Amino acid sequence: MKLGKLTLAIAAVATLYATTMSAAEKTVSEESLGLRKTTIYSEKDTTADKVMYGTDAAGTSKKIKRAFQDAPPMIPHDVDGMLPITINNNQCTMCHEPAVAESMGATPIPKSHFMDFRPKHKFDGKQFTKSIDNMKNEVSVKPIEQLAGARFNCTQCHAPQTTGKLAVKNNFEAAFTKKDGEFKSSWDEVILDDLDTLKK
Ligand code: HEC
Ligand code: HEC
Repeated sequence: MKLGKLTLAIAAVATLYATTMSAAEKTVSEESLGLRKTTIYSEKDTTADKVMYGTDAAGTSKKIKRAFQDAPPMIPHDVDGMLPITINNNQCTMCHEPAVAESMGATPIPKSHFMDFRPKHKFDGKQFTKSIDNMKNEVSVKPIEQLAGARFNCTQCHAPQTTGKLAVKNNFEAAFTKKDGEFKSSWDEVILDDLDTLKK
């Protein structure tokens, strides 16, 4: 029995010694220090992966999964010649305007982009007053006929996706709260539901 315990103790010490030793021998290479994985002595010659946007023309691209529920979808097609968006030239609406989108095979601009969230205001020359009181959780949501001005500049929120390799893998996994949330949104419903709750 005694001998058994002794053997066990020796074995334990030996394992401890072995693990400590191997930990001490481990070195960190200079290449592994930064995200770029090159030696810091030739860093100036290190170039990042080239940023490559998709070149599939609109109508031939494949939609990109959305990052999370009601995230603005990425632009899956080439936007060459469409940017910058100007007051007189917004090609995005020419295909995505709800009236024509279906015939173009494009996703229609959602209802949320046809809502005005700006409260009416009054200015009497001295004082600026709003028609609502944010401090009382009052909000102003008005469905409107035309695209909201705040949504005119599509690329402020929608961006093309690049194929560049990520230096750090993104492990985020979205938990979509709605069916087909990866490819569809219904944020206008969220807004209207919230409004109902506020009114109660
Ligand atoms: C010539 C028509 C056309 C033009 C112009 C156009 N699109 Fe598209 N867009 C499409 C089509 C068609 C799709 C569907 C994917 C496909 O078939 O390529 C699409 C897909 C998208 C999507 C993805 C929608 C989703 O449900 O995932 C976004 C976002 C988008 N476009 C934004 C834009 C923006 C912003 C502009 C202006 C810079 C623009 N589009 C200009 C036709 C167009
Ligand atoms: C202020 C930010 C913002 C701007 C500007 C904006 N969008 Fe969006 N867009 C979003 C967000 C957020 C969503 C997803 C949530 C939702 O449905 O509103 C979205 C959703 C979409 C969708 C997907 C609709 C669906 O049914 O799944 C399309 C298509 C789209 N936008 C097109 C456009 C176009 C075209 C423009 C320019 C005319 C534009 N957006 C301007 C933020 C924006």
